[in-house]
Amino acid sequence: MAKQLWNKGFEPDVEIESYTVGRDRELDLRLARYDVEGSMAHIRMLNKIGLLSDDELSLLLPALEDIAGEIVRGEFVIEDGVEDVHSQVELLLTSRLGDIGKKIHSGRSRNDQVLADLKLFFRDELRRIAEAVDVLFKRLLKLSEENRDKLMPGYTHLQVAMPSSFGLWFGAYAEALTDDMQMVLAAYRITNQNPLGSAAGYGSSFPLDREMTTELLGFDRPHYNVVAAQMSRGKTERAIAAAIAAVASTLGHLAHDVCMWMCGNFGFVSFPDKLTTGSSIMPHKKNPDVFEIMRGKCNRLQSIPNELALLTANLPLGYNRDLQLMKDILFPATGELVESLRMADYMLGQIRVKADILESPVYDTIFTVEDVNRLVLNGVPFRDAYKAVGMSVQDGTYRPTREVNHTHLGSIGNLANEAIAAKMSELMSEM
Ligand code: ARG
Repeated sequence: MAKQLWNKGFEPDVEIESYTVGRDRELDLRLARYDVEGSMAHIRMLNKIGLLSDDELSLLLPALEDIAGEIVRGEFVIEDGVEDVHSQVELLLTSRLGDIGKKIHSGRSRNDQVLADLKLFFRDELRRIAEAVDVLFKRLLKLSEENRDKLMPGYTHLQVAMPSSFGLWFGAYAEALTDDMQMVLAAYRITNQNPLGSAAGYGSSFPLDREMTTELLGFDRPHYNVVAAQMSRGKTERAIAAAIAAVASTLGHLAHDVCMWMCGNFGFVSFPDKLTTGSSIMPHKKNPDVFEIMRGKCNRLQSIPNELALLTANLPLGYNRDLQLMKDILFPATGELVESLRMADYMLGQIRVKADILESPVYDTIFTVEDVNRLVLNGVPFRDAYKAVGMSVQDGTYRPTREVNHTHLGSIGNLANEAIAAKMSELMSEM
């Protein structure tokens, strides 16, 4: 028996059904609790504007509570022949309560219903991302503090350049995450607006109280213009994808650094054996597979803004079914990012950092700028000092002083980690 909400007496073609439903039956399960939450707010509002009686509301609300319980206990399924979560919830209500169940869809369309579900879902996912970013951020800042005096080489063009430090390196990724958090917060703000009441995308002739559902669902404000609300499907996802890509680019970069610093030729960092992986043929190998998988996953996550941009390019205004496919792209992405953030935190909790790296003569020339600056402080014009040190490197007589004295804001000797921490907590407090 056909179970489509829109069924008008003919059986839809089975092939067509399965092609258009796609992965919705599986993916929509993640929206189920939000769908019920949205329906509860919607029917409270219908009651307030006189479209549902108090008696009807008092039957519908507990029935929705029951469904919410089934969702939490993992008993809720989207049955074969049912298109999506929205249809399943309505069908359950109708089968349990009879005709009253059919009343909840007044003044609503699946278009604004799915939008509301997605916004509630992504709002939680963005919070989950923000929390995982914050945990890693704190780990990095702690490592920066603990290793503030351990020098390491800084590179440009992947050639030995100037002294750096583990304090600077860990702290750099911490601060980069604060920039990414701005993107997460922007995506959160765009997401946290109420689309309910936009219905199919053009509103309704019922006097829907959109302020009421906004408040009940904890949105910052309504997405006022009903067409803009509908247009936000796609725009919201692209903002979230940009935020995910920003975090992924920082994390992928960090993962690459670790892979490189773990290479025996550098040997700057290492991990307990059980955190490394082996080779089936080379008995000596301790490989950084974790960070390679992390780098690969983060690179893939950075392709999502492009995928969404192509999927949604030049769509006509209003709902188009293409939009459904964004779920396939974005739903797995949030979890993958969180998983990698947590793995980075887990690994960095056990990182070992090599001491006295710059004592090796390999890095002698890393101190040239320090020595040039020392001459400048003694009154030699910069270009003459540069030339003198340069000539001594050239003829093999250069001997480094090995003294590093960086004091300005944000440098080796003045990491500004407190200011960086304050930036992050300010951002976190807004989510
Ligand atoms: N599964 C659909 C989606 O994700 C739900 C909305 C269906 N609306 C419609 N007009 N066919 O977009």
